[in-house]
Order: sequence, then C-alpha cells, then structure tokens
Amino acid sequence: MTQHLHLQRSLFFAALFIVFATLPITNWSIVQAEDAYPRSNPLAGDKAAIENGTRLYFKWCVACHGNAADGEGTRFGGSWGYGANLTKFWRGYCDFVVIVLNGRTDKMMPPWGGVLEEEEISQVGAFLETLAAEGSNWTGRCTLL
Ligand code: HEC
Repeated sequence: MTQHLHLQRSLFFAALFIVFATLPITNWSIVQAEDAYPRSNPLAGDKAAIENGTRLYFKWCVACHGNAADGEGTRFGGSWGYGANLTKFWRGYCDFVVIVLNGRTDKMMPPWGGVLEEEEISQVGAFLETLAAEGSNWTGRCTLL
C-alpha cells in the first residue's frame, strides 16, 4: 500500500516535471495569440482592397467615425463624444482587427464580427491606413489578446 502511494507520488512529480519542462518549448497558447492576426496589414497599399475598404467604411463606420474618419461631424457625435479619431489609430493592425471584431460594447462601439469578414476588416484597415496622420501606427504585435 505505501509502495503504491509512493509510486503514485513519483508519477505525479514526473508528470509535473514534464509539463514544466516542455512549457517554454511549446507555449502554444501564447504563440497562437500573437499570431492570431498579422503584425501589419497584408492588404496595406493594395488598390482594390483600399477601394472596397472605402466603400465598407462609408457604409458601416462613417456614422460614428465621420467623413474624414477623425470622429468629427458625425451623426451621433458632437457633445455625445461618439466615435474615436481613426486617423490617429496607434495600436497596430492586430489590435485593430481585435477591436473591430469584438467592438467596445460598453462604449458604444459595436462588434463587427458577425457583419464583416476578416478580409473586409483588412480592407477597411487598408483604407484607414491611407488617412494615417502623424502619431498613428499600424504595425506591431498584438496587445489585446
Ligand atoms: C455606433 C457608432 C459606431 C460605429 C457604427 C462604429 N464605431 Fe468604431 N468606435 C465607436 C466609439 C464610440 C469608439 C470609441 C470607444 C472608446 O472610447 O473606447 C470607437 C472606437 C473604434 C476603434 C478604436 C479606436 C482607438 O483608438 O482605440 C476602432 C479601431 C474602430 N472604432 C473602428 C470602427 C470601424 C472599422 C467601424 C466600421 C466597421 C466602426 N468603428 C463603426 C463607435 C462606432
């Protein structure tokens, strides 16, 4: 009986050791999160993508983010303070995709995951990148996943 318990405990520590020993090598979940979306927009600068992104922006985003995507003069804007200035978006492309997919429902930014395909979100991003003002940034690793 004590021998059996002893064996069980050894196996337990052996398993624990294997898990900890392999963790730094695999790190699957973290790798996945970082690679969920690219660090820069694969469609940036693509003429057709920008054209379609412009169309999509003026269909879905313009009401809150404005004609110049600066959050000014929007239908729901003004004193309500709706719509961020997307010409100064600085979190990088990966975070852009995450924000657009999930929205910020507590702050009236709707989630677009059920409306727009990932490629369409890239197209909107490609359009917005053409408006990028000083201080904006469209590259870098994801910080929101
Ligand atoms: C109903 C209004 C509304 C619509 C429509 C809308 N947004 Fe927003 N969006 C907001 C608000 C409000 C914020 C600011 C949320 C906050 O303060 O965190 C925001 C924030 C964002 C942000 C984050 C900006 C930052 O600097 O962190 C992105 C990116 C964004 N919107 C993209 C889009 C895109 C792309 C579309 C169209 C597909 C869209 N939004 C449509 C209201 C809207």
